[in-house]
Amino acid sequence: MLVAPSLLAADFLHLDSEMQMLGQSSDWIHLDIMDGTFVPNISFGFSVIDALAPVAKKPMDAHLMVVHPERWFERLAAKGVEYCSFHLEAAGRSTGRCLQAIKDLGMKAGLAINPDVPVQKLFPYIGKADYFLIMSVFAGFGGQKFIYESLDRVAALKAELESRGNKALIEVDGGVGMSNAAALREAGTDVVVAGSSVFKAENPSEMISALRGA
Ligand code: DX5
Ligand code: ZN
Repeated sequence: MLVAPSLLAADFLHLDSEMQMLGQSSDWIHLDIMDGTFVPNISFGFSVIDALAPVAKKPMDAHLMVVHPERWFERLAAKGVEYCSFHLEAAGRSTGRCLQAIKDLGMKAGLAINPDVPVQKLFPYIGKADYFLIMSVFAGFGGQKFIYESLDRVAALKAELESRGNKALIEVDGGVGMSNAAALREAGTDVVVAGSSVFKAENPSEMISALRGA
């Protein structure tokens, strides 16, 4: 599995050294963008991304937890973001258009859902999305407990992708750690996002390797 550490759990006083560690150890760098409206929290915005982008040695993976996600695609692409996901709940009937807009800007397009959205709601976008992001906690905060039903949702999406011969990736985000990584891989997960488990580990690089090999 690929590992995308979530910068939300990093030490914001020392982002420089955190970025160096990620440059050596991570597969992707997960950036959680929140607006205080789609989710009841605010994270960081473009001033932080501006500072990170020039030193990012691994693909940046932006996870938009915002209303009107389409407002931000162009600026994220201009910063060199390679993977850009937004929530189906936020985009509604614009979802297809948003996926296309992300791809037109040269980024990979991801579609995210919270744990209370039936996974079947993603199926109409198979063939349109480059990856799907299954939230295994409710979007908004790091450090929450993994919701185990997420494993069945991953397996159901994986089965549907395989039955259609589609190669979209499945990314899982929230509460991921060594207690669930192997089960996530078995269920068909391609990319795990990990915030607390990586950045609170004694050795974050070793934790990233352990998750990758789980
Ligand atoms: C939650 C974010 C996650 C979060 C993961 O809204 O989308 O990416 O940072 O953090 P952990 O791994 O601590 O649950
Ligand atoms: Zn996230």
